[in-house]
Amino acid sequence: MSEVNRHLLEIVRRYGTPTYAFDVRRLRAQVETLRTHLPAGIEILYSLKANASLGICDVLRDCGIGADVASAGELATAVEAGFPSERIFVAGPFKLPETLAQLRDLPEAVISVDSPSELQMLAEQRLPNPIVLRLRPDFCSQAVVAAGHESRFGFVGEDVSSCRKLVSLRVVNVIGFHVFSGSQYLSAEGIVAHLRGALAISLRAADDLGIAPALLNLGGGFGIPYAATADELDLGIIRNELAKIVDQVRPARIVLELGRYLVAQAGWYLTSVLGHQTFQGRQAVVVDGGTHQRADMCGLCLRTKASPPLVMNEGVDQSWDAMDVSGKALTPTDVLGCLSLPADVLAESSLLPRLEPGNVLAFANAGAYGMWSSPAMFHGSPLPAEVAFDGSEIQLMRERRPARSILDEQRHVNVRGHDA
Ligand SMILES: Cc1ncc(COP(=O)(O)O)c(C=O)c1O
Repeated sequence: MSEVNRHLLEIVRRYGTPTYAFDVRRLRAQVETLRTHLPAGIEILYSLKANASLGICDVLRDCGIGADVASAGELATAVEAGFPSERIFVAGPFKLPETLAQLRDLPEAVISVDSPSELQMLAEQRLPNPIVLRLRPDFCSQAVVAAGHESRFGFVGEDVSSCRKLVSLRVVNVIGFHVFSGSQYLSAEGIVAHLRGALAISLRAADDLGIAPALLNLGGGFGIPYAATADELDLGIIRNELAKIVDQVRPARIVLELGRYLVAQAGWYLTSVLGHQTFQGRQAVVVDGGTHQRADMCGLCLRTKASPPLVMNEGVDQSWDAMDVSGKALTPTDVLGCLSLPADVLAESSLLPRLEPGNVLAFANAGAYGMWSSPAMFHGSPLPAEVAFDGSEIQLMRERRPARSILDEQRHVNVRGHDA
């Protein structure tokens, strides 16, 4: 049994299921891989939208990277985790009053502005923060989740020109640009195309505004192999391109913002088999979790594409060995969630041994866009537990609450229609 499996089993023994477990060593290893393979001048930000868990942020802050946040809640989390304010990058289509209030205490945080209307609003707020303008790509992206020229985000060409006056009078402190072209891209050549496209529109916008950019956030979109047949992203090709860009725009800071690449492979989603069903003529089991805690499943069709979950033996007082499936008959099995929802399928036709109630299924690569992007309250569901493990050291990050906890902070309505 692998070391990680042993830790997962111990986590289930202590905290039950459904639970998210995060491998701290893997988080650190991802940062290290980027440090080893990308040019030294590249700054990495962690995009909290992939997983805004405080414990994950603690680990990544310790690794010395920055934070890319897109809401007041993510900003509060980044500050609580201790990311230095000059390494916090605040994006999103329009900053809410609560975000602006926080920014007053973070004058070094960089704000990514999404539209001329937002730039005008910020000018009126008189915030001293350095600003980058988010530019909408004018090129197509083949990324699985594309944010190219058809997206709603960022300035288009004529929007940039309309801001010349605000910039030249230094009413706002525009120091550069931000371009995000797409997510979950496993093609290094595709990412190189994103980087080139992002650089080209940034330099054009800089010319238009008459500024020398001091910071360029060129996005990222680094993908991870969810399918057993997919390969890891080839960072060597990306490295060469980034090295050229660093040389070309020196002394500007070159920043990448990455979410999935940093956290997806560190996350495990642990569920227990409740019983059997059949679905579309196939053998199926129902588990105590579901797609309401795995938003990442849906957009990426992971129910058919991802590797089958690991199967672990049930029985706290027994040996807790991972089930040795070799030699056992494997049957195409569907793993269904516990929602009254036809689409609540966690795995389809996965080759699995006969499962019994109490078996634990561990879904790999579940660390990004899972619970933190999910309709997690659907069916009045409490949130799953979140646990970190660093080798054999296990720490609870979020306790699983009882079902009744969904009533917390709610009030009865007791109106009697007196006005009628
Ligand atoms: C603007 C922006 N930045 C960063 C990210 C993070 O992308 P990823 O998790 O693919 O690295 C996203 C994801 O959609 C995004 O929209």
